[in-house]
Amino acid sequence: MKDLEKLNFDEKLEKLKKLKEERDAVILAHYYVNEDIQAIADYIGDSFFLAQKATELKKRTIVMAGVYFMGESVKILNPGKTVSMPDIGADCPMAHMISVEKIKEMREKYEDLAVVTYINSTAEIKAYSDICVTSSNAAKIVNKLKEKNIFFVPDKNLGNYIKKSLPNKNVILNDGCCPVHDEIDVNDVRAYKGKVKILAHPECRKEILDLADFIGSTKAIIKESGKYDDVLVVTEEGIFTELKKKYPNINLRKLKKEAICNDMKKLTVDKVIRAIKNNENQVEVDKEISKRALIPLKRMLELGA
Ligand code: 13P
Ligand code: SF4
Repeated sequence: MKDLEKLNFDEKLEKLKKLKEERDAVILAHYYVNEDIQAIADYIGDSFFLAQKATELKKRTIVMAGVYFMGESVKILNPGKTVSMPDIGADCPMAHMISVEKIKEMREKYEDLAVVTYINSTAEIKAYSDICVTSSNAAKIVNKLKEKNIFFVPDKNLGNYIKKSLPNKNVILNDGCCPVHDEIDVNDVRAYKGKVKILAHPECRKEILDLADFIGSTKAIIKESGKYDDVLVVTEEGIFTELKKKYPNINLRKLKKEAICNDMKKLTVDKVIRAIKNNENQVEVDKEISKRALIPLKRMLELGA
């Protein structure tokens, strides 16, 4: 597709429309991808919404505009479909911050243990887990589990938030985190305390969550923002695309040093078009791992709904 770069946005949109029909394809996108991709997506959402939506779609091809674990989850939930990614190299570093060996070690140590895995993880880790969660349902799901000991992986910040919310559980943390959220400067947030409503993602460090008026997933933050006139949104900057569209009259404040996920930003509209046209960057998951990983993902969809 030599001339793709020369087309303007409307021409690309037209091309995409035809290609989607030809390939029977649908585009899912996360709130952190670039604005133009959010504009061409059929559905935009947080990790839970995207996983759930993927199970409801009738299309033969699903293009997951996000990072690799998102495409992998869609493929595990839809093994018979073609799942493509605009950029297969867009990966979430936190997904690799826990090992199967560590999980096995913890299972030996505790008899009454549930391994609760954040969806930001590899298929292999999911295969060794009891249940998956996302930031929108983690506390709700953990609270429903019969086990008292919870090994929460890979995110220590989300894990710590759950630990604080559920004192009845013994939540054991793993030393992993999202580098983008973990690096947000607490002073940047403190400057707004008491002046505007502070809404933060639970992947942020404890000092930041302690300052927040509301803690939730990207989707929950967007919904909550609608209740106020002036908000500081503490998460990856891509969320502002939807916030600005939905609430043109709200004073939406950004961090002084914006949080940017370079992996989400690797995606472009041209890469989305190529993925559909050439059936490029297809996600493949080992059959055995996929079968095992489907169990905790399905449990999440049941308990998290
Ligand atoms: P959400 O599920 O809240 O959209 O978060 C996904 C993610 O990767 C946050 O960094
Ligand atoms: Fe992973 Fe953080 Fe990027 Fe989300 S923002 S995809 S957790 S690196």
